[in-house]
Amino acid sequence: MLVIETVSGLRDIINPLRKEGKSIGFVPTMGALHEGHLSLVQKCKEDNDICVVSIFVNPTQFNNKEDLEKYPRNVDKDVAALDSAGADMVFTPSVEEIYPEPDNRQFDFGQLDKVMEGKFRPGHFNGVAQVVSRLFDIVNPARSYFGEKDFQQLAIIREMVRQYKIPVEIIAMPIKREESGLAMSSRNERLSEKQRSDASNIYKVLAESKAIAKDKSAADIIDYVVDSVNQTESLDVEYFDIVDGNTLQSITNWTDTDYAVGCIAVFCGEVRLIDNITYFKKLNNGTVTTVYI
Ligand code: PAF
Repeated sequence: MLVIETVSGLRDIINPLRKEGKSIGFVPTMGALHEGHLSLVQKCKEDNDICVVSIFVNPTQFNNKEDLEKYPRNVDKDVAALDSAGADMVFTPSVEEIYPEPDNRQFDFGQLDKVMEGKFRPGHFNGVAQVVSRLFDIVNPARSYFGEKDFQQLAIIREMVRQYKIPVEIIAMPIKREESGLAMSSRNERLSEKQRSDASNIYKVLAESKAIAKDKSAADIIDYVVDSVNQTESLDVEYFDIVDGNTLQSITNWTDTDYAVGCIAVFCGEVRLIDNITYFKKLNNGTVTTVYI
């Protein structure tokens, strides 16, 4: 597996491969890799001739300086994990390499980035769009892979690709969970053992809420989730919203949408965790599916 630090170095290797007709798959990450990331690598390898992974902790998407400083970093361990997973190339650029000049671009995603994460982390998605568009420009992949844990990020990246006509197929992969149900996240590394166990209540409550959703209104489910998660002393819900999975706009009645997703952000001590659950998704043929649970 090649580890490449510069944009020119990466382009020099990838461009001839693309010219030879090899398909390039791309998994962007911020490192601190877990099984969720490795499932993206696995799928990328299955779908493409070449699997490129980037490890870059993008400063422009952190609205909180302390969060950026505390973000877990362990490049050597990540490189070893990617080697075992069979990635072909790892791109580990410096900040100067990605941003030789400050990136002042302002994206407009309409209402998609005004809600949930966008409301509580101002500027976050603009930073995500800056780095992902820059990485797409460097790697020029046929396909790129993202986890559904970052549900809103996925919607925004799809919108960016649509608006800027970027020729890349965006592939979403389901959330990987620990045995306890806790959604895998690089941030879990910052949890103590007790916090990790407490944090598993987030998914427990989401799954319970789905089991009772049929007999309750969406508004009742919101109250149920917020109250139940907050009952664990170390957990503090920042928001829980039930939204249309395409527009990300809140719904109050189940009949408002064909695709209902509950999205949550919770503080466990100082660590901010997100998760989501699909209540239902109606397919074009009228079938109702309750995917991913
Ligand atoms: O999901 C992430 O890890 C990051 O937001 C991404 C997509 C790698 C951009 O920095």
